[in-house]
Amino acid sequence: MSKLVLSPSPNPLKGTIEVPGDKSISHRAVIFGSLAEGVTKVTHFLDGEDCMRTVHAFQTMGVNIKREGDSLIIDGKGIAALEEPDQPLYFGNSGTTSRLMIGLLAGLPFFTASWGDPSLSKRPMDRVVNPLRDMGAIIDGREKGSKLPLSIRGTRLQSIDYTLPVKSAQVKSAVLFAGLLADGVTKVRELTQTRNHTENMLKAFQADITTDGNTTEITGRKALKATNIYVPGDISSAAFFIAAAAIVPESQVVLKNVGLNGTRTGILDVLKKMGADMEVSNQKEVGGEMIGDLTVKHTELQGVKIKGDIIPRLIDEIPIIALLATQAEGTTVIKDAEELRVKETDRIAAVTEVLSSLGADIEATEDGMVIKGRAKITGGEVSAYNDHRIAMMGAIASLISEEEVTIDDDSSIAISYPNFFEDLNSVIN
Ligand code: S3P
Repeated sequence: MSKLVLSPSPNPLKGTIEVPGDKSISHRAVIFGSLAEGVTKVTHFLDGEDCMRTVHAFQTMGVNIKREGDSLIIDGKGIAALEEPDQPLYFGNSGTTSRLMIGLLAGLPFFTASWGDPSLSKRPMDRVVNPLRDMGAIIDGREKGSKLPLSIRGTRLQSIDYTLPVKSAQVKSAVLFAGLLADGVTKVRELTQTRNHTENMLKAFQADITTDGNTTEITGRKALKATNIYVPGDISSAAFFIAAAAIVPESQVVLKNVGLNGTRTGILDVLKKMGADMEVSNQKEVGGEMIGDLTVKHTELQGVKIKGDIIPRLIDEIPIIALLATQAEGTTVIKDAEELRVKETDRIAAVTEVLSSLGADIEATEDGMVIKGRAKITGGEVSAYNDHRIAMMGAIASLISEEEVTIDDDSSIAISYPNFFEDLNSVIN
């Protein structure tokens, strides 16, 4: 536990940052590299705590994975070479590791037990367990298998035609992973499109997969072939510096090689609507994912309405968008974001509590929040709720605060952005 006291820093932010690799893409690169035949090199891999849980899970199942600079070298020997782990798999705080691994473990021919930290143990797993059971999975666990710890007796699965009842890329991915191991063709339909990194990367690893609008089909029991993956900068991490540059007067920050996959760029659409001064340059496609550089300058912002299909495209950015909204003229309303209630913490409650303690005018609703700008951030003492994105939001709030901002514990930041303060200090003048 490390308490953090941040003094206001009214100076403009200036400089260039290359944020760490995308968390979602890093997890998937480890998973597919471990299942594939051949050596996969993952460049610009995010070595945050969550992705390391996925690495350790595969190492426990006998896969040789090693670090080489900012790359990961995975010596894949194919699915059949995975070994039954001789100890329970620990998923820590990582929702992505747990949901994706459960999908996979359900179809592997051995037994596993898995558990997580207190936050992960509260999060719903029935959203993946239910469709997997429909495919024949044998899963048991706390609260009838809806919470960790879980035990999985891997078995031969049957394909399924499944319409997602929740807007969740983790659930979609879990069913696709199970589909990869199942007999027949598995179809997953989404009512609202969520991030599509699983589909993109399965194509890169030569899976038999097609996407048509919001429907994905995968043919099971086909070997994956190793490939090299470059992990773009995580737009969810870049979001903290995009916001900082937008709200600290006279700032100009360049963010290099940020992932610009359209299923993730909702925050850029919102910023444009708010009137932000932002430019995208050097756009290109690398391994099925768009990347580019973002230049953000301070400007006056307007409040906006954020609801409907855009929500999954910015779900992880809502805490920092809420801070932006406190500095925008007028009212910002965020709706249809009930998924925030089951993140690392209840992010509707946490964001509202933290920002109002710091001086903002913000109210929680069932599925979002209402924020009235412009409010003075006065400072104060807040909890990060053990949630990396809440802790980083608090740190960015301190830049425009009148007095100190004290955060009870900043250690969660290592989940997704181990060098966050180094990067922040590099642009503070
Ligand atoms: C993720 C999907 C999202 C997101 C999470 C990462 C992924 O969760 O919030 O940080 O990598 O698939 P849900 O699928 O629960 O919406």
